Amino acid sequence: MSELVKRYTSSVFFDKRLWQADIQGSLAHAEMLANQRIITAADHASIQDGMATITLEIESGAFEWQLDLEDVHLNIEARLTALAGDAGKRLHTGRSRNDQVATDVRLWLRGEIDLIAGLLRDLQLALVKLAEKNIDTVMPGFTHLQVAQPVSFGHHMLAYVEMFARDGERMQDVRKRVNFLPLGAAALAGTGYPLDRERVAIALGMVDAQGKACICQNSLDAVSDRDFAIEFTAAASIAMVHISRMSEELILWMSQNFGFIHIPDRFTTGSSIMPQKKNPDVPELARGKTGRVVGHLMGLITLMKGQPLAYNKDNQEDKEPLFDTVDTLKDTLRIFAEMTSGITTKPEAMEQAALRGYATATDLADYMVKKGLPFRDAHEAVAHAVKAAIAHNVDLSELPLEVLQGFNAKIEKDVYDVLSLRGSLNARTTLGGTAPVQVRAQIARHEARLGKPA
Ligand code: ARG
Repeated sequence: MSELVKRYTSSVFFDKRLWQADIQGSLAHAEMLANQRIITAADHASIQDGMATITLEIESGAFEWQLDLEDVHLNIEARLTALAGDAGKRLHTGRSRNDQVATDVRLWLRGEIDLIAGLLRDLQLALVKLAEKNIDTVMPGFTHLQVAQPVSFGHHMLAYVEMFARDGERMQDVRKRVNFLPLGAAALAGTGYPLDRERVAIALGMVDAQGKACICQNSLDAVSDRDFAIEFTAAASIAMVHISRMSEELILWMSQNFGFIHIPDRFTTGSSIMPQKKNPDVPELARGKTGRVVGHLMGLITLMKGQPLAYNKDNQEDKEPLFDTVDTLKDTLRIFAEMTSGITTKPEAMEQAALRGYATATDLADYMVKKGLPFRDAHEAVAHAVKAAIAHNVDLSELPLEVLQGFNAKIEKDVYDVLSLRGSLNARTTLGGTAPVQVRAQIARHEARLGKPA
């Protein structure tokens, strides 16, 4: 092999991060081999000792990773053999790197999913806390990015809580399918050694909610499919898309034209030339990194397409996109939880923006409907009222009663109660609506679900 081919085919410099899972899988396999009398108890003990030494070496940085040994599996096995002699050479009995790598990736990913679940929870807690402080903060709600109706800023934050809660559920669902044991499939066809796959699955915690072993039931499928990685990356992409939508809003809201929120300086940067600038670098990068994660999803799904059964070396290419997806998502969630905790609102600016946009126009129409006018007629009457307000450069609530009565004779003095932003907000009491009473109820539900924020 030329140096170029060696470098091209090796994976050790990225798959070495699977080392813990690799050792964990090997120890479970060795224990089972000993239990099945396929290797001796003495060999098993030597393997355990060797792996303990290797663990210390890797943790201390003393382990010498070698490009010539191609990947994490061969690097660790070679060192084990140097330490434990023939016992090290016996470890691979009834096993192939094909079922080994599939097992390693699943074990590693399962651990990462659990960390991601915790980070998603932290972010939800930060959002709930921000919502709680802003139940009565009125902002313009938008459709088509046009001022539509007043909403509570707290309600707006809780929309993201719903999204990240679903992301958490998706991760739990993916985890169920990640947590299946390929080991025992060997290269592709199974093996003639009397392996106890159930024992290995249980040792590795690859069990369902009832404690029943989760074992890949077809050897060809076990070593070759990476659908679990694709599925995880799809769930990660959706979570990043939610982050990206939130980023877009934060960027807009902290621009001078909106001025709705303040983000602490430690999440922004200045410009090298314009001294007045405070750029929302963190949300912008998160929006950008979303493209990167969605790209990994495309990469992984395209990697799988067209592969005949069973294992092909193509699958070595699953690692870098998967690793980078995990790293990007974890960092992003962590930084977003921190940043969310630091966000403060500018209620005055939000109210002004809602007033500028005639956000209570629908309330005026609803008022007329209550007075007996058909909704379509009310809609038209309000359109005229808004035109008049624009012409006089005032809010609907600032139009004199006589002027309003000109659009509909049934309008009375109590119309001003519904024309206020707060009146509008308080009226939206349907389950899941923006009225503070509803927002409070939703916060209580989330706090019960997540555990109350500190
Ligand atoms: N480094 C390989 C991978 O990541 C391990 C499996 C290699 N198997 C093989 N038959 N060459 O997929």
